[in-house]
Amino acid sequence: MQDYHSFLAEILIPEDQLKARVKELGEEISRDYEDKEIMAICILRGGVMFLTDLIRHIKPPVAIDFMGVSSYGVGSRSSDGQVRITLDLTTSIGGKHVLIVEDIIDSGNTLSSVIEMLRTRNPASLEVCTLLNKFSRREVDVPIKYCGFDIPDKFVFGYGLDMDEYYRNLPFIGVVDLDKYEAQV
Ligand code: IMP
Ligand code: MG
Repeated sequence: MQDYHSFLAEILIPEDQLKARVKELGEEISRDYEDKEIMAICILRGGVMFLTDLIRHIKPPVAIDFMGVSSYGVGSRSSDGQVRITLDLTTSIGGKHVLIVEDIIDSGNTLSSVIEMLRTRNPASLEVCTLLNKFSRREVDVPIKYCGFDIPDKFVFGYGLDMDEYYRNLPFIGVVDLDKYEAQV
């Protein structure tokens, strides 16, 4: 794997801005869910960093569970809207206040399939919290209650998001220079 500096086009969201916005989102969610319990569902694997940071700023009781969904093949190419459940929840969400925590909404295909499936399990409520939103790429409408940042149509990595499964550990959101990346793969 290459050093990320060889394909980093720019740092789109630095660590301090991520921290500040995640804290704000946690506080907003805390106000909205006062007197309720939250079942936070993290969409693997990209949402992990965001979830763990976000719930530290949520005051009402929070339970977490994980769901694996795969919509992309290797790299940054979409596999024509195909969504596959790779890991299902282990807890029941019936009657619970479910908050889906996602890293990024791009075409919207992944999340709209997840929402459709979770609705059939009769949660008391179902809302979406996404760190990033690439609105210009939307193919399917997704109801987003909480959004960290609207971002341009660029492929990003870091803070949970990967390039070919690596670089999720970086503390910032960076833009990939795809020509430079592919020249070295
Ligand atoms: P959607 O189904 O097109 O909305 O795609 C959503 C999923 O694609 C996200 O959960 C990410 O896993 C992945 N994805 C979309 N855009 C990016 C990106 O810029 N960087 C990394 N992963 C991305
Ligand atoms: Mg994802």
